[in-house]
Amino acid sequence: MQDIRPGRWRHYKGKDYEVLFTARHSETEEPMVVYRALYGEGGVWVRPAGMWRETVAHQGASLRRFTYTGDMDITLRRTLPSDYRETENLTREAFWNLMGPGCDEHYLLHVMREDPAFIPELDFIAEQKGKILGNIVYTKSRVVNGKGQALDTITFGPVAVLPEYQGRGIGARLIFHTLDLAREMGHRAVIILGHPDYYPRFGFRRARDFGPATAAGETFNPFMALELVPGSLTGGGVYHYAGVYNVDPEKAAAFDKTFPYKEKKQRRTRYDTPLHRHPVGP
Ligand SMILES: CC(C)(COP(=O)(O)OP(=O)(O)OC[C@H]1O[C@@H](n2cnc3c(N)ncnc32)[C@H](O)[C@@H]1OP(=O)(O)O)[C@@H](O)C(=O)NCCC(=O)NCCS
Repeated sequence: MQDIRPGRWRHYKGKDYEVLFTARHSETEEPMVVYRALYGEGGVWVRPAGMWRETVAHQGASLRRFTYTGDMDITLRRTLPSDYRETENLTREAFWNLMGPGCDEHYLLHVMREDPAFIPELDFIAEQKGKILGNIVYTKSRVVNGKGQALDTITFGPVAVLPEYQGRGIGARLIFHTLDLAREMGHRAVIILGHPDYYPRFGFRRARDFGPATAAGETFNPFMALELVPGSLTGGGVYHYAGVYNVDPEKAAAFDKTFPYKEKKQRRTRYDTPLHRHPVGP
């Protein structure tokens, strides 16, 4: 039951729980999870571990029943301008040598925050005792249908967690939290280029199964979408992302020199697709 760790978990319907510990049924020895609701009166519940790990079909997507969203003492808050440099540095650490030698995502983040497409209300950090561990940012995007009608959508990325803190649910918590907020703000759909193994747990589906295509007519697996308002993408159309994603590599290299030296290496990882990178023009 090592994969069901104590800490904060999100049920696929959106409510948060704290796993207190795991235990065994006294008669059958079946593994059980003992957990507490992080809402209402905070009732304590028990559920078979097998059910905890299941995936469930919900609004056309296959979702994990529960997703780990981190240690209890990690908090989320809006990013302040005084946090910008630290978030650029953590983005550099997270992406360094990930998709090729070095990276330019920290420069992208730097210029994005000055861009009209940037959405400051959805710029969030995760922190623990004043140390910033993760960051997510969003920009405005659009889907234009065959009749020339545009649907305003949003796109996130880069999303980054410091390497030594990855795999502890921080990314999931940042994503869930900002998706909830985006829905409250009235945004209708989110379109991303992301890893097809990671993002379905948040409800993202391959765009090819129901929605828009890129300007080149492509519908590849990492091209994914989430309807915040059900049915909002059914008309299809062409996805247009903010031009700020097309960074100038020379300017990115000059910006990188303002950070401490890091060695560039070619490193193959299982995540060798740039998740937020767009392979075709806007
Ligand atoms: C992707 C990232 C933000 C996720 O944050 P995190 O706190 O590590 O993620 P969580 O703990 O919520 O989830 C961990 C899961 O993410 C998966 N994961 C981590 N990085 C991933 C990546 N780049 N692509 C696909 N999956 C990834 C892990 O395998 C793990 O999967 P599992 O739950 O099935 O075991 C973080 O790992 C990161 O900064 N990676 C490097 C930069 C990057 O690739 N960013 C995304 C591109 S915009």
